[in-house]
Amino acid sequence: MSFKITMECSARQKDSNIILALDLVSDSRSTLLSKSLALLKKAQPYICAVKINHQLVLPLGLFSGVKKILKTAQSFELPTIMDCKINDIGNTNRVIAENYYNAGFDAVIANLFVGWEEGLQPVFEVAKHMEKGVILLCYMSHKAAGEGYGQTIQQYNKPTSQYVAFAKKAIEWNADGAVVGATYPEKIKEIHEILQDKVPIYSPGIGVQGGDLQSAVRAGARYLIVGRTIFNASDPAAAARQIREEAHLRE
Ligand code: XMP
Repeated sequence: MSFKITMECSARQKDSNIILALDLVSDSRSTLLSKSLALLKKAQPYICAVKINHQLVLPLGLFSGVKKILKTAQSFELPTIMDCKINDIGNTNRVIAENYYNAGFDAVIANLFVGWEEGLQPVFEVAKHMEKGVILLCYMSHKAAGEGYGQTIQQYNKPTSQYVAFAKKAIEWNADGAVVGATYPEKIKEIHEILQDKVPIYSPGIGVQGGDLQSAVRAGARYLIVGRTIFNASDPAAAARQIREEAHLRE
């Protein structure tokens, strides 16, 4: 089953399109692991997947601490995404993807700026071989995103936006998803018109970064990636449930 379908099944089964960004911090590694596991257990009824980034992999280690979190996510039948934004030469990219997939991640996030040949081609090859997913960055959520993703480039002697060219590559390469920041709903709409139902949009940036859930969903975001708005709440499970319900109202 492709990662795209795995996510659709999970969203249906969990009745949620919320992906928990598990980005806790702690001075103690054992506290970080126990807090992350506790948060996952509390939020799991209201989410359809878990996203982890370097904030956990660096202090906990991939095959030690993070693998325990992946096993817990699997026990709740939650797909897992590694937000590693793969961005090197192909030979290294292949090893990065293999390690994350071998640890148990179901998908990785990669940066389209490195291109296909000797860039992301090896990542897609490994993903196909291991039946895993690749999600591509089309437009990031932070303030400076436009400096790269919003540039005007020349393609076939015609000016076009970098993110439009990236969205077309996401279809061409048969990506499992495209990340577009919830902080730029107009970009979600434009990219969704290109991707339609072929490549689902994953949207981070709701809440703390200033993105509005309703605008993102109305513009075409399929999955909402949420971290601090859930885990900094006094009751993270209630916050996750509320965000899930708000997203439902707009579907
Ligand atoms: P918050 O706490 O702001 O966390 O809800 C957002 C999560 O999403 C990640 N993030 C991104 N990941 N492209 C990505 O692939 C982006 O544009 C982007 N913006 C935020 C961030 O690392 C955190 O885990």
